[in-house]
Amino acid sequence: MHQISEEQKSKTLHTLDEFITALSESDQFQYNTIFRSLKLPISVFENYCSWSDKAYTRNCIVENDKFELILLCWSVGQKTPIHNHGGEECWVKVIEGDIKELIYKTDDLGKLSVVKSSISTTNDISYMIDFMGYHSLENLSNKRSMSLHLYAKPIRNCDVFDEDSGKFVNKKMAYHTCSELLAV
Ligand code: SIN
Repeated sequence: MHQISEEQKSKTLHTLDEFITALSESDQFQYNTIFRSLKLPISVFENYCSWSDKAYTRNCIVENDKFELILLCWSVGQKTPIHNHGGEECWVKVIEGDIKELIYKTDDLGKLSVVKSSISTTNDISYMIDFMGYHSLENLSNKRSMSLHLYAKPIRNCDVFDEDSGKFVNKKMAYHTCSELLAV
């Protein structure tokens, strides 16, 4: 496989095409640097966003065997359930707004407790992987928010906490919209 050079890796990526090409041509250990090199105007995401009063939406920009790039669109007060990432790596960049993250761990009896709480604002980046625990994300803004999520590899299924039963349930992930870049 063609490896991107050190020079290219540290280069600021100004378009979605450059970003997707860099990811496609690199190994997963380089994704952290590539994700942090991204500087896109918010207008880029106008083609990908969708909104729902029922729940935050998952809008797929690209999905292939190596990675999945999703735009999450959050109306006021919307949040994820507590979940893990099916063993995959997850990078999140806030495109616009304020997103609150709670990280949870389970004790020996499986009881969940919050071990970290943080708020990310526009352009902040966070990282998550299953050994760090479970997490939930919530739109803290009093207006719509958007966040860009890179998963490597794509997350097909993950464990989601069911508040009614108090147990984790393995769920298949779904998209609200998919772009025509899907097969890139
Ligand atoms: C999701 O992908 O639906 C949840 C957001 C995340 O954990 O990054």
